[in-house]
Amino acid sequence: MSGPPDSPGAARLLPLTDERAATMSERLGSLHRQIAAVVPAVDQIACVLHDPDTGTLKTFVDSSHAGAPLRRYEFPLAASRSLSELVRLRSARILDDIPAELPGQAIHSAHIRAAGFRSSYTVPLFDGDSFQGFLFMDSREPAAFSGAVVERLEVYVNLVRMLLCHELTAVRSLVGSIRVARDFALVRDVEATRHLDRMARYARVIAMHLAPRHELSDEFVEQVFLFAPLHDIGKVGIPDAILHKPDSLTADERRIMATHVVLGVELVEQLIEHFRLGHLAGIGTLRNIVAAHHELLDGSGYPRGLSGDAIPLEARIVTVADIFDALCSRRDYKSAWDVGEAFALLQRMVSGGKLDRQCVDALVGNEPAIRAIMDRYPGRGEEPPAAPP
Ligand SMILES: [Fe+2]
Ligand SMILES: [Fe+2]
Repeated sequence: MSGPPDSPGAARLLPLTDERAATMSERLGSLHRQIAAVVPAVDQIACVLHDPDTGTLKTFVDSSHAGAPLRRYEFPLAASRSLSELVRLRSARILDDIPAELPGQAIHSAHIRAAGFRSSYTVPLFDGDSFQGFLFMDSREPAAFSGAVVERLEVYVNLVRMLLCHELTAVRSLVGSIRVARDFALVRDVEATRHLDRMARYARVIAMHLAPRHELSDEFVEQVFLFAPLHDIGKVGIPDAILHKPDSLTADERRIMATHVVLGVELVEQLIEHFRLGHLAGIGTLRNIVAAHHELLDGSGYPRGLSGDAIPLEARIVTVADIFDALCSRRDYKSAWDVGEAFALLQRMVSGGKLDRQCVDALVGNEPAIRAIMDRYPGRGEEPPAAPP
């Protein structure tokens, strides 16, 4: 968990940077300006993403000319019969009179009404046969989406679809190719996969909790979720004898193991260059997670020995999620800790100046969500009993 600031390979690291490619929200914002020039009645555009694993829709990006869009919100697609029907039929929906046609009590319906929107145009977004999410265009004018307007909007709907699908496809091919590399190098076992599933979701819970205070966008929260599982990608370059050694490592072996951070950064840079992904929103988040997930607030981490705010927030989040899951997982050399014990150790690491207090508080303060994730992705030997026939 810690190591000398002068860990091997540190000199090969590029400096961490705040440089970020244009976000999806910025790109959607510029599309919105173009759309408003053609159809001024469009006051808000928002995209929500579908998580096929949990069946939920999650707010993702938005662009608004007025009012506060709904953010940090998710709900099960199945809970909305009308939206589920749009997916099934692959058809768009026009609401001309929202107060009359969207009377439901769901938070998103109430929000749309309270924001004063009177009409809307909703399009399910597909990439081939795969449902990706919804595009919502809302207007404060009633019946703003006549047949002629919708025809004019069609080209923009396609642009948003391409923007979203291109971005998601690029991210997924990056994540996928890194996972393939990992699977080649590591013995693929259920536990390692489950560790990544769980820690990514813990990281998401923490990021969601911190979002209001740090003004984090839904897009950033999603990037943390998507990229968290790639934190240890550099382990593909660590010899098996060290990676899979059942006993504790010698000092020399620990030094070699610590190089996985530098190896990971190099691998990510190669992939970015190879797949030309430098433009991708969130690529800075990925770089920072891989480069700084073993840094500790008091400067005792590696490879740079960064301290305090010099460690990017996304890395501080991932560090807490990663350590927590390691503690609660059974290993050959240790049993799984219970949640209370693991929380207590993380809190001691906060008092000792190692971990970010807000990140640990976010985890501890969301215990029901954390336990739900553990139940959904149980570790080795903890599979839920099979359902009776
Ligand atoms: Fe690591
Ligand atoms: Fe990990």
